[in-house]
Amino acid sequence: MKLGRLNHIGVATPSIAESIRYYRDVMGAVQITEPFDLPEQGVKVCFVDTPTDSGMNGTQIELIEPFDESSPINGFLAKNPAGGQHHVCYEVENIGEARTWFEGLGKRILGPTRIGAHGTPIFFLHPKDMMGQLTEIMETPKEAH
Ligand code: CO
Repeated sequence: MKLGRLNHIGVATPSIAESIRYYRDVMGAVQITEPFDLPEQGVKVCFVDTPTDSGMNGTQIELIEPFDESSPINGFLAKNPAGGQHHVCYEVENIGEARTWFEGLGKRILGPTRIGAHGTPIFFLHPKDMMGQLTEIMETPKEAH
């Protein structure tokens, strides 16, 4: 398997609205999507783009706020009430090959391969097997090429 682009850093927040104000007014972000709900993943999501020179395909900050009481990020926010870095997401060319690769290395994969917030297949790897980082692996969107 070959490592691809750093697609995004997942940042948990107790308030996407407050985080948007921070990225806009303090960090000077100009490309911020409208927040949207992903109830099946238990989160509300919003993307903050860090543009490249061409203005395309910058690495993003993925803001995630709990959707409800059963959200998988509630535990993280209980330990980190102000929010903070939750996961990193790397692109790969082929999600199936990547899954087989990590399985072969004995890495624990958290749940099935599923469609993530960018509309492409993703899976997560256990932080204890990944040098302390909750790691998301995402197939590179086809339109990015
Ligand atoms: Co993510």
